[in-house]
Amino acid sequence: MREKLTHPIFEIIRLTAEQNNVKAYAIGGYVRDLLLKRPSKDIDFVVEGDGPAFAQAVAKNLPSKTKVTIFKNFGTAMLHYADYDIEFVGARKESYSRNSRKPEVVPGTIEDDQKRRDFTINALAISMNRENYGELIDPFNGITDLENGLIRTPLAPEETYSDDPLRMMRAIRFATQLNFYIEENSLNAITEQASRIEIISGERITDELNKIILSKTPSKGFKLLDKTGLLPLVFPELSKMKGVTVRDGMAHKDNFYHTLQVLDNLALNTDSLWLRWAAILHDIAKPKTKRFTPQGWTFHNHEVVGAGMVPEIFKRLRLPLNEKMRWVQKLVLLHLRPIALVQEVVTDSAVRRLLFDAGETIDDLMLLCDADITSKNDEKVKRYLTNFKLVRQKLVEIEEKDRVRNLQPPISGEEIMEIFDLQPCRKVGDIKTAIKDAILDGVIPNSYNEAYQFMVEYADNIGLKPVKK
Ligand code: CTP
Repeated sequence: MREKLTHPIFEIIRLTAEQNNVKAYAIGGYVRDLLLKRPSKDIDFVVEGDGPAFAQAVAKNLPSKTKVTIFKNFGTAMLHYADYDIEFVGARKESYSRNSRKPEVVPGTIEDDQKRRDFTINALAISMNRENYGELIDPFNGITDLENGLIRTPLAPEETYSDDPLRMMRAIRFATQLNFYIEENSLNAITEQASRIEIISGERITDELNKIILSKTPSKGFKLLDKTGLLPLVFPELSKMKGVTVRDGMAHKDNFYHTLQVLDNLALNTDSLWLRWAAILHDIAKPKTKRFTPQGWTFHNHEVVGAGMVPEIFKRLRLPLNEKMRWVQKLVLLHLRPIALVQEVVTDSAVRRLLFDAGETIDDLMLLCDADITSKNDEKVKRYLTNFKLVRQKLVEIEEKDRVRNLQPPISGEEIMEIFDLQPCRKVGDIKTAIKDAILDGVIPNSYNEAYQFMVEYADNIGLKPVKK
C-alpha cells in the first residue's frame, strides 16, 4: 500500500508516531475508498493512545501553523491540511456508541478498535509505523469482502447493529452506493432489529437516505429498506405506495415500483438531490386519492394533494423548509402538465401557459416527466417519447419567440391605477390578469403598445376610460 500513500500528511504522521513512540494507523472510509479508487477528502487516523494529544503533536510537525479542534466528548480531534479534513481518535475497546450518554472510553489496541467498527470494509487499516509502514492491517478479511462486493460486520451482526442502529441504514446505503450485497446474516439481523431505528435522530437517518438517493441506482436502497422492514419506519408515505388492488378484473400499477423506476430513470440524467426528491414524491398522494370507478382506478387531484403533503414530509425528515422544498412542491404539482400536452393537439397557447406556470422549473419538470414515462409496453413508451420531443421543441420555439417563462406583464398594477385614476381594488387585478391571459393565449404579443391597446379596449367594456395616456 506504500506507493498509494501520496498525500503529504502520511510522512508527517509517520514521523510523529516515531518521535512520540505511539502506534498510528489510517483507518475506515479513506482506506476503503483508496482501494476502490473512489476520491475522498477525509482521512481518519487511530492511535494506540491519546488521539487529541497526537493531533497536537502532528500539528507541530506541519509546515505552517495549523489549528486543532478537539471534541472532548468524543475524544477526537480534527485538523485541516493540504485540502483534507484529518481526524484523530484513540483506539477504543468499548462499544462504539454515540447514543450512550456517558461513553466510557477504555483504551485498546488497533484490533480492539477495528472489531468495534461497522463493516469489515470500513475496518481496514494501514500502518503508519516504522516496522511495517504502509502495510494493510486486516484481521477480518475486509479486502476479500471488498473484492467480492460484500457488506459484512466484523462481529456477530446482532452485536454490531445493536451497538449503533444507524448502521442498519449505513449497510443499505453502502450496498446501494457501491453496488454491494449485504451478507445474509447481516440482512436477517437488520430485519430482526429494524424497530430499533427509532432511537436514531431524524437528521442522521435522512443523511443516509440522501446518500441512497444520490447513488447511481437508488431503487436498490429503497428495495432493501422495504425488504428489511425499515421503510415503513423511516418513510411511511413511500411504503404505503406498495401494492396493487384488483377489482372487477381491473388493477392499477404498483406505485412504489413505478416511483422507483422513475427515480432510476431520472438518476441517469441528473445529480440534483432535489429533482430526485421530486421523483420520489411525484405520486406520493396516490394512496390517499385512490378511487374505484366503473371505468377503473382513478387518482384524481393526486398532484395537488401530493404537493400539499411535501411540507409535512420535509419537516418530519428534517429536510430544509426553504426554496428547495418549494421547488419540489412545484414539480409535484405540475408533473402531469407536460404529459397532458402530449395527449392533445399541442397548441401554442397551452405551451405558453405551461411555460408561465413552470417558470424556472421548466427544464427540471421536463426531465421529471421524461423519466415518468414508464410502461411495460415498449411501443407505447416510444410513441410517448417521440411526442414528448415535439413538446420540448415547441417549448423552445415559443420561449424564444414570446419570452413567457419569466413573464412580467408589460403594464404594472401601479401604472394601471394611474392611467385609470383608480385606488387599489379588484378592477386593477382584473385588468392585469386580462392582459396576462391575452399574452398567454396569443391574442396579443408580449409588448407594451399592443398591451396598452388591449387594456384600453378591455377597460372600456367594464366602464373605465383612461384619464391619462
Ligand atoms: N463508523 C462505524 N459506525 C458508524 C459510523 C462510522 O463503525 N455508525 C466507522 C467506520 O469505520 C467508518 C468510520 O467510522 O468507516 C468513518 O465514518 P464516516 O465518516 O461516517 O463514514 P465513511 O466510512 O468515511 O464513509 P462516508 O464518507 O461515505 O460516509
